[in-house]
Amino acid sequence: MTTPDIPRSEIANALEFRHACKAFDASRKIPDPDVELIVDAIRLAPSSYGFEPWNVIIAQSEDLRNAVKAFAGNNAARFDASHFLIFTAKTGLQITRKGGHIDHILRDVRGLDDDEADDFKAFWTKWAERDFKLITADVVHQWAARQAYIALGGAMLAAAERGIDSCPIEGFSIDGVREILTERGLIDPTDSSPVVMLALGYRAGGQPAHSRRDLEEIVRWA
Ligand SMILES: Cc1cc2nc3c(=O)[nH]c(=O)nc-3n(C[C@H](O)[C@H](O)[C@H](O)COP(=O)(O)O)c2cc1C
Repeated sequence: MTTPDIPRSEIANALEFRHACKAFDASRKIPDPDVELIVDAIRLAPSSYGFEPWNVIIAQSEDLRNAVKAFAGNNAARFDASHFLIFTAKTGLQITRKGGHIDHILRDVRGLDDDEADDFKAFWTKWAERDFKLITADVVHQWAARQAYIALGGAMLAAAERGIDSCPIEGFSIDGVREILTERGLIDPTDSSPVVMLALGYRAGGQPAHSRRDLEEIVRWA
C-alpha cells in the first residue's frame, strides 16, 4: 500500500459528479472490478468500536428486486440500476445479547479470550448506557444504522470516483422489505433489519445543479 496522492481536482470532480441519480440506463452494467472496489469501500468503512454492525445484500435477481420495488413507493425507476444494494443493521438485541454480535466480533474476528472479551464488552456497555444513552434495543439498532450510513457514504464516493452514479434510498417500507428478506431467508429478523438501500449504475440523461446551503451557514470555525 502506498500513500494516496489523488489530485484534489479529481476528488473535487467526483464530489460534483455525484448526484442522487433518479433515472438509470438499464443497458449499462458496472464492470466487476468496479463492483469489487465499491464493496471494498463498504467492507473497509470505519465503524464505532470497529463493530461493523451491518451487512449488505446485493439484490441482483429480478424476483427479489421486484418484490422490494413493491415496497419502495416512488423509487421504482431506481430499480433499473446495474446493482442494487440493501444495507441491513443488526438489531439491538443481537448486538448486545450473550453470544451475539459484539461477542462474535471480539472473540471470532479479533481473537480475544473470554476474559478480554468480557472486559471490553463491559467497557462498551458502560459507554453505551452512560455516555451515549444507547438505552433501549431500538436505540442500539439506530446506532448500528448510523454505522451502516458511513459505509453507504464511502460506497457512493468510491462509485463517483469511478464515474458511477448512485442513489441512496430511504423511501421504502422497513416492515415490508424486512418481510421480503425474511421470506427469502436473506435475513433473520431477530438478527438484522433493512435500514437504507443504494442503487448503483449509470445515469440516463443529465443531472440538475446541486442545491446546497452557503458554506457560512454550514461551517463555523471556532
Ligand atoms: C439517506 C438518504 C436517503 C435518501 N432517499 C432517497 C429516496 O428514497 N429516493 C430518492 O430519489 N432520493 C433519495 N435521497 C437523495 C436525496 O434526496 C439527495 O441526496 C438530496 O436531495 C441532495 O441531492 P444530491 O444528492 O443530488 O446532491 C436520499 C438521500 C439520502 C442521503
